[in-house]
Amino acid sequence: MTVLTIQPQGITFAATPGMSLLDAIKAAGVALITQCNGKGQCGACHLFVQEGRKSLSKIQRAENEKLDTIVGVGSKSRLACQAVLGEEPVTVELLGFKSGF
Ligand code: FES
Repeated sequence: MTVLTIQPQGITFAATPGMSLLDAIKAAGVALITQCNGKGQCGACHLFVQEGRKSLSKIQRAENEKLDTIVGVGSKSRLACQAVLGEEPVTVELLGFKSGF
């Protein structure tokens, strides 16, 4: 189990290692609006990883290239659909997501 904390909603979710961040966030009850269904093409799942970056899968070339096209990207940026959870706790900050509650 990997503890995923989702901000600014303040949701804590027990995720399974190997899940993508996107799937874990959806499973936690946060509705996401994306256009590419997790294919790393739309950029709508861009978020900031505030803690636990080393627990996530490494950024691959396609994700890096997509991030380069997004305004407001920083050193903590990831595409939730491309980042796979490891064993350590992770805290993310959502940008532009709509709450499912
Ligand atoms: S869901 Fe489209 S880039 Fe992640």
